[in-house]
Amino acid sequence: MKRKFKVLLTRRLHDFALDKLRKKYEITVHSGKIPMPKNRLLDLIKDKDGLICFPYDSIDKQIINSAKKLKIISTYSVGFDHIDIKYAKKKKIKIGYTPDVLTNATAELTISLMLDLLRRITEGDRLIRKNNWTEIFGAYDYVGRDVSGKTIGILGMGRIGKSVAMKALGLGMNVIYHNRKPMSKKMEISLKSKYVSLNNLFKKSDVLTIHIPYSKETHHLVDSSLLSKMKKTSFLINTSRGKIVNENDLIMYLEQNKIQGAGLDVFEKEPINKKNKLTKLENTVLAPHIGSSTDETRYEMTEITVKNLILGLNDKKLVYSV
Ligand code: DGY
Repeated sequence: MKRKFKVLLTRRLHDFALDKLRKKYEITVHSGKIPMPKNRLLDLIKDKDGLICFPYDSIDKQIINSAKKLKIISTYSVGFDHIDIKYAKKKKIKIGYTPDVLTNATAELTISLMLDLLRRITEGDRLIRKNNWTEIFGAYDYVGRDVSGKTIGILGMGRIGKSVAMKALGLGMNVIYHNRKPMSKKMEISLKSKYVSLNNLFKKSDVLTIHIPYSKETHHLVDSSLLSKMKKTSFLINTSRGKIVNENDLIMYLEQNKIQGAGLDVFEKEPINKKNKLTKLENTVLAPHIGSSTDETRYEMTEITVKNLILGLNDKKLVYSV
């Protein structure tokens, strides 16, 4: 009889997916500490043919070396900076990921953070919960900013950046962007978006939003030198990866009101807690890495992650391959 493939999941997926996998394979699902402790991962991966992992799992050389039988790494994310892609490919391991399906959800969260910051919704909520709602309707009370007519600067015009541009246009914003390469003229016209240099993006934006992948090249790309270009009245949004921003520099700029606020879904080291200075600031809105976290999107991500895994185990072309 043919040996059943062995699959490790570093965390559970939807029940329908686990049921499907259980019927075909011998599966091990980690529960408990997140991320899965490295020693346990090193040990459990040894005899596995397939791995389903998450953005916080570090799938480095050591893990790959321990995974003597591994054919496929299927990550439940669009980002794959947590996997040593080059090394995995060298070892002939396929890598699947989940782009497209989470574009809209992540763009929606970006817009939510922007609206929240400019209209001070969470700030007001905190105020009410602390029993501090005193003023009503005065000319200067709890005054936010119009979104319409403002300039949004998009750093990275990939799938998510473009989706943010479309939604921002719907809100009456002007769109400027910076990318490794400008988009085609046709695309620029259809998205009513103007290409500018990186410095100008930071100088001219009222809202600067980051949509580039994390890599060695983008590590701490947004530091005090770029933040210093921003207007005092501007806002920073990050729904991509925390390590693209130098968090200490950002905290300094927010504390000294050198920029007006920040909406962050991602952090240098996740999860953060109350000790992180960002939580002490009134001019921040913080989310627990929920860019793709809608019922609809997570369901589709599960479907693709499982499909990628099964295709990889059977030496077939993945739905989405890195
Ligand atoms: C991903 O899938 O990489 C995103 O971080 C989800 O928000």
